[in-house]
Amino acid sequence: MTKGLFITFEGADGCGKTTQIKLLDEYLRGEGYKTLLTREPGSKGLGEKLREILLNYDGEVSSKCESFLFLADRAQHVDCIIKPALEEGVIVLCDRHTDSTVAYQGYGRGLDIEQIKSLNELATSGLKPDLTLVFDVDVETSQSRVGTEKDRMESAGIEFFERVRKGFLEIAKFEPERVKVIEATNTIENIHKQVVNEYKRIAR
Ligand code: TYD
Repeated sequence: MTKGLFITFEGADGCGKTTQIKLLDEYLRGEGYKTLLTREPGSKGLGEKLREILLNYDGEVSSKCESFLFLADRAQHVDCIIKPALEEGVIVLCDRHTDSTVAYQGYGRGLDIEQIKSLNELATSGLKPDLTLVFDVDVETSQSRVGTEKDRMESAGIEFFERVRKGFLEIAKFEPERVKVIEATNTIENIHKQVVNEYKRIAR
């Protein structure tokens, strides 16, 4: 259906995926490919407003409302940014996508996993990443990387993040072809090599 490649980067806050997505972007550009580096929530435009609410609103937010806001951001992102880029043959690298909603709102907040998966389908019109990399790190390490200045999501507590981590690992078990787990306590250079190898495997 689409000409480009769609690669998503997932994992708990502080797992190092943002460093790695930038390194893969540089690598691909160096190889002469056209790329789009984007993120959820909030790539640009309306998404930025939704991101501001999701990360900084300090009143009560129900788990369902939170899910729908992430999903609203995703629908806009897929329709207005990701799909047009893929149709032009661009390699789209996305920092978080559908699996974050399954891990954070499903496993983390305790909403029904199957319902979240169906809502993801609705938001993306069934678009699936060609490859998803989950950066796995123990909760203690990821929390120490996040530091003390936490946003609304990062303030959720250790048990929440244990569930989120388990969620990502379960997702990888369910879809081993699409989702690859990368041990994220390795060196930046070593992790980058693994990321490039995974890219080469699907790009063939
Ligand atoms: P961000 O600052 O982008 O965090 P990171 O650099 O770790 O990706 O904030 C995104 C936050 O939103 C992060 O805590 C994960 C959370 N999130 C969800 O809970 N559900 C989702 O569907 C998405 C996309 C993100």
